[in-house]
Amino acid sequence: MRTIISLRLLSVAIKCIYAANIQYHTLNNSQENEFDKVSIVGNTDNFWKISPTGIYDLTRKISMSSKTVTISMTGSRKRIIIDPQKTAVVVIDMQNYFLHPSIIPAAVEGRAIVPALTEVIRGFRLAGIQILWIEWGLGEKDLQRMPPSFIDGYSSVGTDNKLKTFGDNLGRIDGIDAGRKLMRGSWNAQAWSTLHNFQLSGLNEGTDMHFYKDRLSGLWSSESSLNKHLSERNITTLFFAGVNTDQCVWGTMSDAFSRGLDVILVNDLTATTSPSFATQMVKMNANLIGFVTNSTEILKSLSVDIN
Ligand SMILES: *[C@@H]1O[C@H](CO)[C@@H](O)[C@H](O)[C@H]1NC(C)=O
Ligand SMILES: *[C@@H]1O[C@H](CO)[C@@H](O)[C@H](O)[C@H]1NC(C)=O
Ligand SMILES: *[C@@H]1O[C@H](CO)[C@@H](O)[C@H](O)[C@H]1NC(C)=O
Repeated sequence: MRTIISLRLLSVAIKCIYAANIQYHTLNNSQENEFDKVSIVGNTDNFWKISPTGIYDLTRKISMSSKTVTISMTGSRKRIIIDPQKTAVVVIDMQNYFLHPSIIPAAVEGRAIVPALTEVIRGFRLAGIQILWIEWGLGEKDLQRMPPSFIDGYSSVGTDNKLKTFGDNLGRIDGIDAGRKLMRGSWNAQAWSTLHNFQLSGLNEGTDMHFYKDRLSGLWSSESSLNKHLSERNITTLFFAGVNTDQCVWGTMSDAFSRGLDVILVNDLTATTSPSFATQMVKMNANLIGFVTNSTEILKSLSVDIN
């Protein structure tokens, strides 16, 4: 009951401030009606403003801020308004282990997203939106706590015909010391190809941050440094890119949704080696739990706002 009342008050406040911000008296009748119909969905700490024309304002601000970006979606929710300060791009597992042709020849689609991903990240950086690289990177303690399902599931036959799981030495791949499987600092856990230097430059510039994960999801544990970072920075909206769409991308996305964050799948910047029905499942559900868009729409919106 208390929530309902305060939500109503919030709704009134938002409409008043909307009106003040855009000089209500200069509006014609049809525009006034539009603002009266804005619905506030959520609670006082975490809410969306949805216009009758289907624009989702995800800024969680009562007043309309000047520093927002509007992006068209390709899913059933058509447009969003975001606050760059409260938004981040999550790039999952673009590592040698999941992309290098000598380790995983089948990851053709994953390798193919790199040029567009690079371009979109450049656009987001210029718009002041933080890039979060979320990647496997285990420490010794993580190995000790690893559940059997993961150890068994991540076992595969190495070049020496022996089973290799987390922490096992992968030997030499293309003449390179590949290091221990998915361990922090190993070559196999490093970002693939050009992304390695691209990531390092973003980290040096301070536009990007890097977080290690030890499961499919980077958000499964409330103790994770990623979770802490998101709440400290008040980040409430996340774009998702990377591999594999149906595994680590979906796992992280689903946890973000459960934690009350807005999730946006960037369709053409995710890829998987799984059968196509796995991707279909993710696209269908991303559209239900959040939003779906693509690199073209993002670049269009960002260039408008950057210039
Ligand atoms: C009110 O303004 C909107 C947008 O500026 C315009 O599309 C619409 O035709 C106007 N309506 C009237 C009744 O003047
Ligand atoms: C996050 O929100 C809290 C509560 O509104 C505020 O005190 C804090 O300064 C915000 N932090 C950042 C980094 O904006
Ligand atoms: C993104 O979606 C728009 C609208 O559906 C479409 O015209 C465009 O070709 C898509 N871009 C990519 C890279 O898929």
